[in-house]
Amino acid sequence: MEHHSIAIDGPSGAGKSTLAKQLAERLGYLYVDTGAIYRTVALKAQRLGVDLNREEQVTALLSEIKVRMDYESDGLQHMYLDGEDVTQAIRVHAVSQWTSLVAALPPVRAFLLEYQRQLAREHSVVMDGRDIGTVVLPQADVKIFLTASAEIRARRRLLELEQRGQQADYETILHDVKQRDLQDSSRAIAPLRQAEDAVLLDTSELDLEGSLHAMEKIVKEKLGHEN
Ligand code: DC
Repeated sequence: MEHHSIAIDGPSGAGKSTLAKQLAERLGYLYVDTGAIYRTVALKAQRLGVDLNREEQVTALLSEIKVRMDYESDGLQHMYLDGEDVTQAIRVHAVSQWTSLVAALPPVRAFLLEYQRQLAREHSVVMDGRDIGTVVLPQADVKIFLTASAEIRARRRLLELEQRGQQADYETILHDVKQRDLQDSSRAIAPLRQAEDAVLLDTSELDLEGSLHAMEKIVKEKLGHEN
């Protein structure tokens, strides 16, 4: 059976995961949050105190790590690290910053590349990340580059944290957003970049429903009568 793939790339906080997940639900495709996979690898490196400058330590970690992704009845993509559910643990602030560094390492990217491609061979997917349209699935049927201004992304993040009852400060968040953008787009391997054939969607002025509608329109235009 032929599978379709939809690649959603963009900087952190552009709304990728929320939108990609809802789009996948509407299409009946598997949603793959690749950031969560990178975060899981980073959590293990952090717990083991791996020195990211020592390639042999990174390679050793990759040879023993067991990463698994599963979908539970709560509709969430749960991540398992060596059998432990780390879905919550990978979301803490320190892990976000650390993941950006771990994701820049060539052995880590090579290790996860095949894992991600395998998922797309076995399912129709909506996959979100940074290099899905450029590196992981260059033949994706639809590619969307989702972005919003750094200020808007920081505001959304602030709101999200406040809703969860967490203390947060706008200036700190904005600084973090910009720092991660820089790290993710200036790394040598698979940097955050819009694929030439990706459709750019700026959600700065759109709410969730408006963004989803715009994405569905793009998908419909690309996949035509098939959906
Ligand atoms: O989407 P996110 O915030 O969960 O991603 C966490 C980090 O992982 C982010 O710094 C970029 C990196 N990442 C990546 O390099 N490639 C991907 N396909 C997905 C995430």
